[in-house]
Order: sequence, then C-alpha cells, then structure tokens
Amino acid sequence: MKLNKYIVIDFDSTFTKVEAFDILAEITLKDHPEAEEVKHKIHEITNLAMSGSISFRESLERRVALLSPNKTQLLQLAEKLKSKVSESFKRNRDFFKKYADNIYVISNGFHIFIDPVVTEFGIKPENILANRFHFDEQGNVTGFDKDNPLSANNGKSEQLKRLNLPGDVYVIGDGYTDYEIKHAGLANKFYAFTENVERENIMDKADHITPSLDEFLYLNKLNTVVSYPKNRINVLLLENVHPVAIELLKAEGFTVEAHTAALTEDELCQKIKNVSVLGIRSKTQVTEKVLQHANRLMAIGAFCIGTNQIDLKTATKKGIAVFNAPFSNTRSVVELAIAEMIMLLRNIFDKSAKMHSGKWDKSASGSFEIRGKKLGIIGYGNIGTQLSVLAESIGMKVYYYDVEEKLSLGNATRCKSMKEVLEQADVVSLHVDGRKSNTNLIGHKEFNLMKPGVVFINLSRGHIVDIQALKENIQSGKVAGCAVDVFPYEPVSNQEEFVSELRGLSNTILTPHIGGSTVEAQENIGNYVPGKIMDYINTGSTSNSVNFPNLVLPTLENAHRLIHIHNNVPGILAQINQILADHNINIAGQYLKTTEAIGYVITDIDKEYNKEVIKALRSIEHTIKFRVLY
Ligand code: NAI
Repeated sequence: MKLNKYIVIDFDSTFTKVEAFDILAEITLKDHPEAEEVKHKIHEITNLAMSGSISFRESLERRVALLSPNKTQLLQLAEKLKSKVSESFKRNRDFFKKYADNIYVISNGFHIFIDPVVTEFGIKPENILANRFHFDEQGNVTGFDKDNPLSANNGKSEQLKRLNLPGDVYVIGDGYTDYEIKHAGLANKFYAFTENVERENIMDKADHITPSLDEFLYLNKLNTVVSYPKNRINVLLLENVHPVAIELLKAEGFTVEAHTAALTEDELCQKIKNVSVLGIRSKTQVTEKVLQHANRLMAIGAFCIGTNQIDLKTATKKGIAVFNAPFSNTRSVVELAIAEMIMLLRNIFDKSAKMHSGKWDKSASGSFEIRGKKLGIIGYGNIGTQLSVLAESIGMKVYYYDVEEKLSLGNATRCKSMKEVLEQADVVSLHVDGRKSNTNLIGHKEFNLMKPGVVFINLSRGHIVDIQALKENIQSGKVAGCAVDVFPYEPVSNQEEFVSELRGLSNTILTPHIGGSTVEAQENIGNYVPGKIMDYINTGSTSNSVNFPNLVLPTLENAHRLIHIHNNVPGILAQINQILADHNINIAGQYLKTTEAIGYVITDIDKEYNKEVIKALRSIEHTIKFRVLY
C-alpha cells in the first residue's frame, strides 16, 4: 500500500524488548568463569561510548572482542530474539506487511541476528540497515565492515543521509542515536518508544512519546488491529490500592496514576474528566455530581466488597460498569469470626485486661470449648458459607438462615426462619448484606429469642444491629460475650474519636472494621479487580459486575465486536440488526442481556465494515455508550 512517509524503526529495545548484546553475552559467556566481570566490562564500555570518551566504533570493537561470538552462537541469538519481539509489534504484524515499501529497520547491531527476526514480519531485506560481521573459515568473528556508517559515531544519521528518502521520515526508537537522526535534520518526527525502556532524556526530546506501536499507528491513522491504543486509557487509582493492581494495569499498557489518599468530591470532579477507569476503596464517594463530570469513564473498580460509596444508579445510567471484589477477603473475615468465638467463649479479653492491671483471676467457670456448640449463621453468602465449613471442621454444629434458597455445605442445617436459628444457637454470627431492609434486623425482639449466655458476633454491617438493644442485653448478661467490627457510624479517619454505646462493656471485642483487612486480602483484591476491568475493556465481558447485566463472552477471532449499551426500552436489538442487514453485514454471534435500567448487546460481525454502520449504530435513539473492539 502506498504511503507518503517513511517509518524508520530501531531494533534493540524497540523492535525487540531487549538489547541483543545482553542476550549474546548470556549465550557466549554461559560457561565463562568470569561471566559477571565480562558483563560489567561491557557495560562500562557502553557507558564510555555514550559519554563520548571513546568512539562508537571502538566500543563496538571492544565489546565484540570480549564476547568473541561465532556464527552458531549468533544464529542462536537470532532464534532467541524471535521470541522477544515487542508485544505491540507482534499485535500489529499486518501493518509491517501492508506498508513494507515504507518501513526501514535501522540498527548499530548486525544483520546476522536482525534479519531473521524482522523479515518474519515482512520487512524487506533491502530495508534493513545494520552492520555486517566478518567470519573466518571456522565461523569465528574476525571483525566487521568498517565502511558501514552504522559502525561509527552518528551512524544512523549518516546512513539516513545516504538513503535520501523521498518523503517525510518518522523515526521510532528508544535511544539517543535514534533522536540524533531528527536532530541532524534527517527526520521530520522522532517518536520515543517506551514500551520496553523509558529514558527521561530521550522522552524530553521526542515529538511524541509512544508507549506502544499502537499509539504511533493511532496518531498516524494507520490502525490495523487495535481500535484504540491502551495507553490512551487513563486509570486513576485512589486510596492506596495494592501495588499488584498498579502493576497489572500498567502491564496491560494503560496509563496509570495512583494516589495514596482519597479525593474530595470537588477534586474528583476535576480529575475524573480524563479518566477511563477509576479505582477506589471504601472512602472515595463517587456521587452523582462526580459522575456528571465523568464523560470518559468506562468502568469503576471498587477494591473492596461494598459499593455503597458509589452512586450505582447514575453510573448505570451513564453506561459505566462497576466491579468489586466480592470474595477476595472472605477468608479473612471468617478467620476473625472463628478466633473471636474462641476468645469470647473463654472470656479472654476481660481476663487479659485484668492481667494488665495486675489481677490474677484463674478459674474455669464461664469458659467453654467451641467444639460441639451450635453456631447460628444469619446470611449464608460468600462469608456465611465459608464460616460454615471452617466451623464444622473444628467441631461446631452449624444452623443457618438465608432469605434465599441456599445449598447446605457439609452437614449444616438449613432453618426456615431466623427465629429457628436464634432460638437454638450458642453463638450467633451475622453475615447478611447491607441492604436497607436489613436495618435493625437484630433488636430487642431478636435478642429475646436467643438463649441466655449467647455469644453474638457482627462482622457484617453496622446498621443491622440495634446498638442500644445490644448494649442492654450485654449489661443484663443475656449476651455473655460479643464482637463487633462494624458500626452504624464509623469514624472517617484515624484521627476521629470512636464514639459508641458499646465502649467499656464487659467481654466485648470492638474492632475498627478490619474483618477483611489483611495483607492477603488486599493482595487478592489487587489481583481480582484489575482482571475484571481488563476483561470488560478487552472483551466486553461483564461477569460479576455489580450494576451491569452479567455477560461472559467468548474471545473473538477474525471479527469485530460491537458493544452497545442502551436504556432498556423495547426494539433496540431489532434496530441494531436492521442497520447491520441494511449494510449486508453478517452477524457471527450476538449476546443480549438486560437489567431493569439498561440493555447490553454484544454483536460480533465479519471483519469488514464501513464507518457509516458505526455512525448509524451510534445514533440509535436511547444509546448510552457504544464502542467497537478490534
Ligand atoms: P453475600 O452477599 O455473599 O451474602 C449475604 C447473604 O445474606 C446472601 O446470601 C443474602 O441472601 C443473605 N441475606 C440478606 N439479607 C438477609 C436477611 N435479612 N436474612 C437472612 N439472609 C439474608 O455477602 P458476603 O460477601 O458474604 O458478606 C456478608 C457481609 O459481610 C456483608 O454485609 C459485607 O458487607 C460484610 N463484610 C464485612 C467485612 C468487614 O471488614 N467486616 C469484610 C467483608 C464483608
């Protein structure tokens, strides 16, 4: 295909992820007793050349001499480099074939290991500019072609001058020698390629920073495979989410900005304008006002379980998918519940407090094992079920009640009402969700149903228990021990005093909403949520989304995926299909799911389509968001 510009691409750390000489060193120094020292010397020589203390040619000679490679090793190097081509180059294979006449690869390295790698991508052999080794009859390197400008200082510029390309020249590379071409006036633009290495001094000088080849192609309207470069997807992570999340999202190619604290509503309104993905924990309030400013926002990741801090209704109306981590800290909550049951049945906290004030109170009265005791679980969801399994394994008898039909795990007994559980349990543990109707689920009436001396645990949500009623029942001795981790009002920061009727009560464990707060849980969350977000962005899959219809989609091959989010009114699917039929487009697969508020339609179509179709689909009335994948 004809193009009126020439694209000149660097090899080391650009076409491939690595520096070829580093890999060559691994090969030739494999059994060398002083391999590390030699590598160190090579780095020193490279630095000397970079600082101008020795010429490039001298550095090349000295490095080659230290490595003393032979032909077999160099061919081995080529094979290794084939597996180290930059990811965005691999994705865009078609681009190299399509514009083969206009693409050059330039390097201060050597043809013998560059050609096999780049010709596989359709680069023409005559468009590869590199040095050539001389070999002896045994295949040992004896030197290299010194007439080649690429073996000397300013080699790339000199080579380009000799080439005298008849059109605009765009250089893509990661190093100073690539920038030099532009500096010498031989290129119109220099694109600093940062997918593999980021060099500040090069980035400063670049016309554009291209974190991947996708970005270069997007800027120059040469897209072939990626509809939108990932680096253009800005991710804002607040509240110190686990570093593993930052790593995962960066590795995906997104541009990630992370803050340790939450932002206020006003700050967030400002920031959110350019953000495609927002990651928060429980403090950041994503209000209607914030969402009104969020015109690029595609997804919100709640790096926690609860999503009360997000205005889900408005998010849905704006076509923003919300994901959370419903299971990631389940185990942590369960472990704490088990530990607290044991502590409470043994009255350990009061005993420990007495010891601290010098009181030795040795007695077995009022202390019990948990083995054989009846555990009543209210809410048999992610946490309730896991608690059921663990509690049984240490010998408790489990009774549970859930508003929904739930499968009993192990030997647990399902009860028909909460009353049935409360009447027989020695330990009552609450694990219901925080829906409004659960406010004061446990009050005087429910405490009255419980056995005298019951142990009561709430690690679910604060408003579920009538605190005054709990206090009175502790004071009366009806509740022999209790552990509370969640409160109707919780301090917003560690500086704020914790005020509660429950302070100072006997055999009462109070914890600051830390049931799920463990290092393991944070890491699990950090791994889980980015996965959901990336699935959504890359495939449209909404499995486990809090507010979107849940669709799990097959990965797509040789087709385009049209993702259409609309208000749930009748007839949209018919309109989509009519538009496709009018344009003679074959539907390879179609998936539809709705909630009360929105409809989510995924349509996979044949590879070719024209812009008119996209325009028509976008303009269907009631469309909230529309995007095309691939
Ligand atoms: P889940 O949604 O998997 O399970 C909740 C279960 O409660 C569901 O099966 C639901 O049908 C049932 N339920 C709701 N209302 C009920 C009622 N009135 N009576 C009986 N059953 C009812 O939730 P998951 O993940 O098990 O979490 C449970 C609770 O723990 C939630 O409130 C959650 O916010 C809280 N949590 C607290 C943490 C902490 O740090 N303390 C950490 C993680 C979760």
